[in-house]
Amino acid sequence: MSSNYMEATQDLYREAAITPQDTLCCASATPFALPGLVVPEEMTAMNYGCGTTVNVRDLKPDMNVLYVGVGGGLEALQFAYFTRRPGSVIAVDSVPEMLDKARENFEIAAQLNDWFDPSFVTLLEGDALDLPVPDGTVDLAAQNCLFNIFMSQDLQKALSEIKRTLRPHGALVLSDPISETPIPDALKQDDRLRAMCLSGALSLQDYVDCITDTGFGTVEIRGRRPYRLLDARRYGLQEDILLESIELAAFNDPVPSDGPCVFTGRMVIYTGDNEYFDDENGHIVVPDVPLAVCDKTSKCFEDFGRDDMHVTPSTFHYAGGGCC
Ligand SMILES: C[S@@+](CC[C@H](N)C(=O)[O-])C[C@H]1O[C@@H](n2cnc3c(N)ncnc32)[C@H](O)[C@@H]1O
Repeated sequence: MSSNYMEATQDLYREAAITPQDTLCCASATPFALPGLVVPEEMTAMNYGCGTTVNVRDLKPDMNVLYVGVGGGLEALQFAYFTRRPGSVIAVDSVPEMLDKARENFEIAAQLNDWFDPSFVTLLEGDALDLPVPDGTVDLAAQNCLFNIFMSQDLQKALSEIKRTLRPHGALVLSDPISETPIPDALKQDDRLRAMCLSGALSLQDYVDCITDTGFGTVEIRGRRPYRLLDARRYGLQEDILLESIELAAFNDPVPSDGPCVFTGRMVIYTGDNEYFDDENGHIVVPDVPLAVCDKTSKCFEDFGRDDMHVTPSTFHYAGGGCC
């Protein structure tokens, strides 16, 4: 660990393991329901994420999942709901008290859910910057509301560590705060605020650049919504700063020679008279059927300058495929 903010982070989450903090992250939000999954109240009270990293379309029963920063265990339990095998979810945390709490919560979860066995989740003490997991063994890695705390060099290291553990085409799914207004240095350097996920946020572009610079070739921005407001009066700012939470998936694919593919929910819609339009670069668009394209391809389609080709703006809610 590289500096005081890391110590402040350990201290904060030690406290938050011993006494649940209802103002931290999304602790007051109700987690989404899955059929036949009863989430223990103890886990809901420790929902220290923002958004979710659990997405039905990523998950298959034979997957090995790595979860970094387990908290009270809510999302690790949700992943285990899909995998249901001993050791199929490895959950790492650097705070021993948090691991103890998650262990207790999994025991409670087993009493409430007859399909669940605590052996489905292997809890490991470890650091996101030096994961105790072998290379290329993970299908899906997740982190929720942890990496935003890391300063730039540590963020790069944490992303490289995740990438190291992923098999080819494996994915990192994450949820984290972002801020399009730069956060003043005084707040960024406040160790406690940073640890509380309130002052480390990057802009979306800077966050995505860090991910693609680490060598993830495909990124999908799947969700974006308001998270917190840094109120000007309370934080001594010139103006309020809106923090948003984003959900994204980054795939361990090679970065194409012309740059990464970043999907932000843009679509191409062709309204011409031909049976189809072929951009001769791998994209065939048939009339009136929206095709989801990455930002790089959107730009190429815009550059055609055709009246019968319409490129929609980013929604930041990419959900695969095209059409509706
Ligand atoms: C904001 S909480 C998020 C918890 C959980 N992901 C959730 O959504 O409820 C951050 C978690 O990361 C853990 N943590 C903090 N620093 C870490 C590090 N360097 N490596 C691994 N885990 C860390 C904390 O103990 C805590 O459990």
